[in-house]
Amino acid sequence: MNGDTGSPAIGIDDLSFATTEFVLPHTELAEYNGTPIGKYHLGIGQHAMSIPAADEDIVTMAATAAAPVVARHGADRIRTVVLATESSIDQAKSAGVYVHSLLGLPTSTRVVELKQACYGATAALQFAMGLVHRNRSEQVLVIASDVSKYDLDSPGEATQGAAAAAMLVGEDPSLVRIEPTSGLFTSDVMDFWRPNYRDTALVDGRESISAYLQAVEGVWKDYGDQGGRALSEFHAFCYHQPFTKMSFKAHRHLLNYSGCQLDDEDIARVLEPTTRYNAVIGNSYTASLYLALAALLDGEEDLTDRTIGFLSYGSGSVAELFAGSVVPGYRAHLRSAAHHEAIQRRRTIDHATYRELHGRSFPTDGGDYRVPRQTNGPYRLAALSGHKRVYERG
Ligand code: HMG
Repeated sequence: MNGDTGSPAIGIDDLSFATTEFVLPHTELAEYNGTPIGKYHLGIGQHAMSIPAADEDIVTMAATAAAPVVARHGADRIRTVVLATESSIDQAKSAGVYVHSLLGLPTSTRVVELKQACYGATAALQFAMGLVHRNRSEQVLVIASDVSKYDLDSPGEATQGAAAAAMLVGEDPSLVRIEPTSGLFTSDVMDFWRPNYRDTALVDGRESISAYLQAVEGVWKDYGDQGGRALSEFHAFCYHQPFTKMSFKAHRHLLNYSGCQLDDEDIARVLEPTTRYNAVIGNSYTASLYLALAALLDGEEDLTDRTIGFLSYGSGSVAELFAGSVVPGYRAHLRSAAHHEAIQRRRTIDHATYRELHGRSFPTDGGDYRVPRQTNGPYRLAALSGHKRVYERG
């Protein structure tokens, strides 16, 4: 129940993620550029990065993540699809409309795309909460899908990745009840951005880390001002993880800022279970926070009735902190085996293949082009024709 209103709580009823066909281990990158592997494995906490095949993009990953959710729950109550991304494929048409079509959702659906760097999916989740609050019989399909791409041989390169997370938001959820109190923070900073004419992001790495930490302070202060919980009430924290070590930096900063003791063992207990997927997938931007949640829920510990903190950060910057509590019986609704399979099924590529994929770009002349078949996933980008993307089932 929602303590404030006496009506059933609203939150995440289902959570499913998908990633790419290919994976590049950091050992390959380190061997190529002469970086000591410790910098990747320990310094940034990354072991591998998901690399999209030529015929994969945010639409194919989003559809792959969301299809099992629709298969389990049906589409009768889904009247809204919100797709959050910062690696959009079109300036006008929402990627969600392609996903809506691939999933065969009813025409009586509103579909929209949201953007604010990695924060977009949290905005989508919060807006979904509001829609369900307005009509409790409705469910909202929230999808976060992104490909993180930096210039070759740049410091950001080792933090690339790609994944999509799909969440069904509704009343009386099976996984996590989201609490209504949020701490918010917005600040106009140029820590990371991607002008429309570029397909790789620009970033000031050091500035981005300090902007993230500034946002941690900002959301925590506002969360307190809004009457939020005390730090001691949180059992675990899911952070946006551009690289998994960032969650440790952020949590230490939060503990410091709020005058709490720093206990390394406790910090590891709180954070390590949230990093297991992102450490081998890389930055999936909007999806990253929700992959942290998936990893936590899929882990060994029974989290029933535990309070989880969520800290969402999107460069530029917007951040939000909120709490959720884990629903009794949640384990019966998890997709742990499918999540492990999504990671395990990826085919390892060598560094030369990765560079070739990284350098690919689509023709812009509006001609007819078949896209090489590479993915074994359920959906693929089959062709470009007349400036249109043509998708098909795999
Ligand atoms: P860098 O210059 O390559 O690395 O940039 P570094 O020299 O800062 O080293 C990284 C860490 O590895 C350091 O640890 C080193 O000490 C350690 P720290 O001091 O930070 O604790 N190290 C080693 N450890 C063990 N053995 C070794 C070794 N060598 C060094 N041998 C940087 C790193 C993250 C800046 C770079 O990868 C980058 O620019 N990444 C992209 C930006 C980014 O991820 N920013 C994070 C915050 S912004 C954000 O989260 C938003 C974002 O997701 C976008 C969005 O919102 O849409 C990015």
